[in-house]
Amino acid sequence: MTRLEGKTALVTGAGTGIGLAVAERFAREGARVVIADRDADAASLAVATIGDAARAAVLDISDEQSVATAFADLEAAGWAPDVVVANAGVQLFGHDAKVADLDLEVWRRTIDINLTGTFLTVKHAVRSMLSREDGRSGGSIILTGSPTGLNGEGHDFTAYSASKAGIHGLARTVAAAYADRNIRVNTVVPGYTETTLVTAISSDPEARAAIVGRIPLGRAGSPADVEGIMVYLASDDGAFATGALFAVDGGMTTL
Ligand SMILES: NC(=O)c1ccc[n+]([C@@H]2O[C@H](COP(=O)([O-])OP(=O)(O)OC[C@H]3O[C@@H](n4cnc5c(N)ncnc54)[C@H](O)[C@@H]3O)[C@@H](O)[C@H]2O)c1
Repeated sequence: MTRLEGKTALVTGAGTGIGLAVAERFAREGARVVIADRDADAASLAVATIGDAARAAVLDISDEQSVATAFADLEAAGWAPDVVVANAGVQLFGHDAKVADLDLEVWRRTIDINLTGTFLTVKHAVRSMLSREDGRSGGSIILTGSPTGLNGEGHDFTAYSASKAGIHGLARTVAAAYADRNIRVNTVVPGYTETTLVTAISSDPEARAAIVGRIPLGRAGSPADVEGIMVYLASDDGAFATGALFAVDGGMTTL
C-alpha cells in the first residue's frame, strides 16, 4: 500500500463522508494528507486519527480569500499539494425544489459552495502547481461530480444538479487548458453513497428502497467504494488519464 508514497494530497470536505474515507486511504497509501474542511472540529478529529501524516486546513471553499490563504500557508509549510481532491459540497434537501418553487437564496447557496467553491479550489490548486519551486511539475486534480450532473435524478434537485453539471464541464476545460503543464484533471462520479449528506434518503425506508432499486448492483454505495478510483487518479497509474469522468455508482448512470 505505497501507491502515493512521496505525494502530498489536499482533500476538501475531508472532515467526514467520502472526503474523510479518501484522505484516510491516501494516508494508508503513503501520502501526506491535508484535511481541508470548514468544520474545524471534524478536521482536527480526522488529523488526530491519521496522525503525523496529516494536517488540517480550515477553509470555506466559497470564500476566495480563505482558499488562497490555505494554499499559501501550505506552500510556506512545505506542504504544497501534488494532488487536490475538490470534493466538498452540499445538497440542500428540503430546500432545493422544482424550478418554479426554488428560492434564489437556495440556488445561490448551492452554486456558491458546489460550483464556485470547486472553481476556487481548482484555481488555487492550479496556481500552486504552476508555481512550485522544488523542481516538481504537474499534479492531479480530482473533482467530485454526481449522477445528477448527467441524468435527471430527482425533480427537486434543480440547483444541485446544475451545480454538478457545471463541475463536469469545469473539469474538461481545465484539463485541456493545462495538459501541457502535466496537470491532470478528472471527475469522479460517486453513486448513491451513504453519508450524512443523504440522511434525508437513508433515514426514509421508502425513499431508500426506491433509490437502491434503481442501482443495478443492488446496493447503496459506501465512502470506501470511492477510494480506489481516487487512488488510481492521484497516483502515477493514472498518468495518461485526463479530462475524463469515472462513475463509481453501481451502474446507476447506465439506466
Ligand atoms: N453521498 C452521495 O450520495 C454523493 C453522491 C454523489 C456525489 N456526492 C458528492 O460527494 C461530495 C462529498 O459528499 P459526502 O456525501 O461525503 O458529504 P458529507 O456531507 O458527508 O461531507 C461533506 C463535507 O464537506 C464539508 N463542506 C461543506 N461545505 C463546505 C465549504 N463551504 N467549505 C469547506 N468544506 C465544506 C462539510 O463540512 C463536510 O465535512 C460532495 O461534493 C457531494 O455532492 C455525494
